[in-house]
Amino acid sequence: MHPAIAPGNIAVVTGAANGIGEAAARRLAGEGMRVCLADFDAERLARVQADLGDQAIAVTLDVSDRAAVEALAREVADRLGRVSVLMNNAGVGGGGDALSNPDGWARVLGINLMGVLHGVQAFVPGMAASGAPGLVVNTGSKQGVTMPPGDTAYNVSKAGVKALTEGLAHTLRNSDGCQVSAHLLVPGFTYTGMIASRIPERPPGAWTPEQVVERMLEGIGRGDFYLWCEDNETPRAVDEKRVLWSAGDIVENRPALSRWHADWKARFDAYMAGE
Ligand code: NAI
Repeated sequence: MHPAIAPGNIAVVTGAANGIGEAAARRLAGEGMRVCLADFDAERLARVQADLGDQAIAVTLDVSDRAAVEALAREVADRLGRVSVLMNNAGVGGGGDALSNPDGWARVLGINLMGVLHGVQAFVPGMAASGAPGLVVNTGSKQGVTMPPGDTAYNVSKAGVKALTEGLAHTLRNSDGCQVSAHLLVPGFTYTGMIASRIPERPPGAWTPEQVVERMLEGIGRGDFYLWCEDNETPRAVDEKRVLWSAGDIVENRPALSRWHADWKARFDAYMAGE
């Protein structure tokens, strides 16, 4: 286990009332950490906090509100102390394509991208300056890497989280005396609150949030930056080919998102089949 994850150390998890964030908070508490659960769903948050008892505090907030996240950092410092693990995980879907839903775009970018930036800027300078081991995990998505058409706003937000976290990792590793590292969690299809609102039972293709957290901890233990998760329908080898095809759009001068372009479908299918 990474030295930041140790009994008595402090973790802050956003989006901790449900899904991957809840599973991470429970697991980190299981490792003996004291956990600040942050979410805007006060009711569910209170239930998770009640289960974790004295090991957890709960703070209701909207991560898209910079002042609220800064206030969270002050509250955590006052009530718990120095933060060792920060997981910027709160996220939502439902943005829209390039020509639709301006309000949805603002909401998705405000929560998924600016919410992560707010967490990074409120917590990481103090974590880095402490000289103690620390971890920052930001939750991205494969959609921020391969950009499937549909919810373009979500893709933009998650591509932004990838770029932000890569830049943060570079900055931290070039900061004298800093023992904090940044990591990008890339879940596969995971059965969480986000999915349960549309599908009543876990589809066989989906991982549980606990599986994602297990993979996250394995990757952190190895020192991986990309905490890449597969699921029960997409093995890693398939993801790797999709990522390479996506990068190949530039190198091969193909049209944007050629994977979903009618003229390129047969070539993409042949490539995936190894032809
Ligand atoms: P979830 O809906 O179960 O959990 C998300 C949590 O974030 C909820 O408790 C929600 O109340 C909270 N939240 C939403 N907006 C917030 C805000 N403005 N301020 C504070 N809290 C807020 O969903 P899930 O799947 O656990 O999502 C966690 C992260 O994983 C998200 O960033 C999501 O984009 C990402 N992800 C999920 C995948 C999946 O298949 N479930 C796949 C790839 C990425």
